Amino acid sequence: MRKRFDRTDGTDSTFRTNDGSNSPHADVSNVDARRLAYGMLLNKGLIRIGLPIPAMAEFTLTEADDPYGFVSKDTANPELSLFRRPLPTVNLKFTSSVMWDGRESPVTLSIREGLSNQTNSANTQHAQGAELTAAQRQGIVDFELSLFASQINVRDSVTSISLGKAASPKTLAEQRFSLGINPPYLAGRSNPAFDNHVFKLFDRWGGRPDRSGSDRRAAISRGQQIFNTRTFVIKGVAGLNDSALFGKPEQLTATCGTCHNTPNVGNSSLPLFMNTGVSDVDRRTGDLPLYTLTSKATGESVQTTDPGRALVTGRWEDIGCFKVPALRGLAARPPYFHNGSRSDIPDVVDFYESRFGLGLNNRERLDLISFLRAL
Ligand code: HEC
Repeated sequence: MRKRFDRTDGTDSTFRTNDGSNSPHADVSNVDARRLAYGMLLNKGLIRIGLPIPAMAEFTLTEADDPYGFVSKDTANPELSLFRRPLPTVNLKFTSSVMWDGRESPVTLSIREGLSNQTNSANTQHAQGAELTAAQRQGIVDFELSLFASQINVRDSVTSISLGKAASPKTLAEQRFSLGINPPYLAGRSNPAFDNHVFKLFDRWGGRPDRSGSDRRAAISRGQQIFNTRTFVIKGVAGLNDSALFGKPEQLTATCGTCHNTPNVGNSSLPLFMNTGVSDVDRRTGDLPLYTLTSKATGESVQTTDPGRALVTGRWEDIGCFKVPALRGLAARPPYFHNGSRSDIPDVVDFYESRFGLGLNNRERLDLISFLRAL
């Protein structure tokens, strides 16, 4: 994006005020103004999504602090500016919901239908084009569903190690999937069939040092083990601790795979949306808007940089909930989380350490990072 901006002085078709700029009213009259106007796209790869609060929502917008001066609580039916990362258009065979907030895949539709809707909305809204025909939508969806991507080697300044067949995109394409293939809980009880060894890509390297004497393969395998088996306590996660599916536990002893449970992929195998605190007020950075939402029922207020799923369902409990995304090909697409707030993989691991208290020692932290870089 930065190269494209520099090459065209910010006039390439990506740079448009309908979704690329921080505000639809941004000044884009000269190159310096454009550099500011498209700051979120240039700094964090964030696209502006404008969504209203649904008419039947259980809450209203009572304050809007928008650094770009667009969103105001005094406008009738204000459209909120939400800054979100584009999701990968690969490995969609394993998708259980379409978009960070699932807005393109209501439960009444199949994922294929959801992807078809998404394709059309993207063409009419982001690309400002015409409605697509049924045949065009189907063609795009078929194409997307045939794309698989994963990391195939990891490099540092000294060595490059091949990750082998089990981690290859070809093996990934053959991986079985159906909705709900591996949920840890069903109907409020733990699922006896749940396989917590969500990732089995690096089993064969189990702890052994490489022939080269390097510990790097063993580190990746140990990191996989940490992802699969290290337990920690989950409290206060809307979408999990208040969910009937999990039996509404006040706290739950869990692993990374409790949420990231699709075998060898890592998204949630059921269309679940959770609030891990990424859009909480105390994690707000100055480049994000801050919204105050007030419950119509109780008068209680909450502040968030992005209401997430709640703008689709209108439910108070869904504020700040986002889908549990797939994890393959991770190293190729920083920054992370819906709002690009974590600049690299170590930064994501540090988020989880501070949010859930994983208790990793320094070597374990580096092992988990090595594993996530090898997906
Ligand atoms: C309570 C459920 C839950 C648990 C437990 C959990 N995650 Fe997540 N994970 C999520 C959700 C939800 C998101 C999306 C958050 C957002 O963007 O707001 C996410 C996002 C991520 C991302 C960013 C992916 C991207 O494309 O931006 C990574 C990496 C990740 N998780 C790794 C882990 C690791 C490693 C662990 C274990 C230490 C873990 N997660 C535990 C729910 C969970």
